[in-house]
Amino acid sequence: MGSSHAPDDRHAEPATSGQPWWHRTTVYHIYPRSFKDANGDGIGDLRGIAEELGYLQDLGVETLFISSFFQSPQQDLGYDITDHLGIAPEYGSREDVLRLFDAIHARGMKVVLDIVLNHTSAQHPWFLASRSVRQHPMRDFYIWRAGRRPRGAQPPNNWRSVLGSSGWHYDEATEQWYFASFLPFQPDLNYRHPEVRAQMLDVVRGWLTAGADGLRLDLFHALHKDLSFADNPFSFRPVPSPDNPDGFFQRSRHTLNHPDTLAFARELRRVVDEFSDPPRFLVGEVFGDMPTLRSYCGEQHDGLHLVFLSKSLTARFSAGSFRDLIREFEAHFPKPLQPTWVFGNHDRPRLIERLGGDSKKAKLLAALQLTARGVPVIYYGDELGLPHHELPLEGALDPVAAHFRFVPHWLHATLRKRGILLNRDSCRSPMPWHAGRHAGFSSPDVAHTWLPIHPASSQINVASQERHPSSLLACYRRLLALRRGSNALSVGRLELGDLARNSDDVLYYRRIYEHGGAHEVVHVALNFSGREQAFELATPVAELRSNLHDKALASAVRRMQPFEALIGFERSP
Ligand code: GLC
Ligand code: CA
Repeated sequence: MGSSHAPDDRHAEPATSGQPWWHRTTVYHIYPRSFKDANGDGIGDLRGIAEELGYLQDLGVETLFISSFFQSPQQDLGYDITDHLGIAPEYGSREDVLRLFDAIHARGMKVVLDIVLNHTSAQHPWFLASRSVRQHPMRDFYIWRAGRRPRGAQPPNNWRSVLGSSGWHYDEATEQWYFASFLPFQPDLNYRHPEVRAQMLDVVRGWLTAGADGLRLDLFHALHKDLSFADNPFSFRPVPSPDNPDGFFQRSRHTLNHPDTLAFARELRRVVDEFSDPPRFLVGEVFGDMPTLRSYCGEQHDGLHLVFLSKSLTARFSAGSFRDLIREFEAHFPKPLQPTWVFGNHDRPRLIERLGGDSKKAKLLAALQLTARGVPVIYYGDELGLPHHELPLEGALDPVAAHFRFVPHWLHATLRKRGILLNRDSCRSPMPWHAGRHAGFSSPDVAHTWLPIHPASSQINVASQERHPSSLLACYRRLLALRRGSNALSVGRLELGDLARNSDDVLYYRRIYEHGGAHEVVHVALNFSGREQAFELATPVAELRSNLHDKALASAVRRMQPFEALIGFERSP
């Protein structure tokens, strides 16, 4: 690290590193319904996001990823779209979107949208046309098949949706079955149809032209189904996991991660490459083992720019399991590829819940997320430790909850430990801004917010954590600032190593950045244990910073507190 460099200066921009901006960026994931309600109808909206850009900039995140706000009957809260270029009125207008983009860009930040290519709403005009008669020219925009056995009363094959039930749904009027990878009201588009591909590529162009800096691709691994329509093979796996989407006693050979989807990733990339000022990026929601995930980026680095690596969502809280994970990420996503670090999203159990509500552990994972190599993606509220909100299944707004209503209550907690949330309302609580009515999410006059405010919001909220230098929020801010001020932390290479007198409970790595004449080394030691640990570095460091304390520590410090992270900046010789 250059001696003139002050790692605590939030606004310090390191000299250009020759890396694409999306390699070094930090992402904050906003669920728009739950972030901030500006017009007092109890539902978060685009103007609400615009109002809170100051908060996000102070936090220090650089890219905002906003979940779907497109035209939708909201059966799956925006993931059942009727017009991919239209805006659902409760979020605002197209003008509001463009104004929000401008406001984000004016602050030097970027914006990523959520594009649902795989399916539409069953109320999409295309599907209404497609299901009207078999001869309709749009019939093949979706996947229709005749059923099996007596008079086609059985689904065409055994393919399941990713939620475990049959993916086929019978249509009385035209006496055929259509396929849906998710819920029945979300019919899959047929990517074998050139017109579908062309139209959806135009959706992508439309949003990039409007100013989106990146696109997240929903359920991307489901895009192509095998043309053989052969049965999927049997599997012993009851429940899918982030690194293996097989489950419900079926392998997903013909329905997920099809080679034709990899080819389509390259086609999409060519479209995105039409936009070069500034360059844009694609990040895929894909599930599979590491080689499969990596394959989406293309052999020639000509596919998706990034994929969400969701194994971190279920990794055990231990130095060993994160050491293994880093090793895996490094092996499969070496430069110029870039891993991602995701600890939560709008479908998964809340991060703090997995850590037993322990904010010290949350600070440690924040330190890992913001100092390991990869693009960090922070789910809104996780910077405060917003807890899981247990809500009754009856009356849930999440359609997945209705789908799994037969699952006994005791099983929910077990599944949650494996990263599976059957009522996703629980991780979508309104953002708590302060301790007042509706936690400041909505105007005090509103009778009800769209989801109930979490009762803990009177203590866990932005205002209270802003007042406390030792809060989780303060920790995120400090780490984001350190990262932004350091080329090594944002784009340097990572070397796992051992410390002298190292304990198995301490995870240690170095981030190293060499470019032109610059040479910067940052040491990171993470104590995953509830015990004090010895800490000895061979190289002297100029500044040693901790995730738990406010001030830089004297380099003489030799002890690590339980769950403490130490970040040591080596000066250039
Ligand atoms: C993705 C989204 C999820 C949505 C589903 C169907 O997994 O993250 O929220 O319900 O796809 O579009
Ligand atoms: Ca609103």
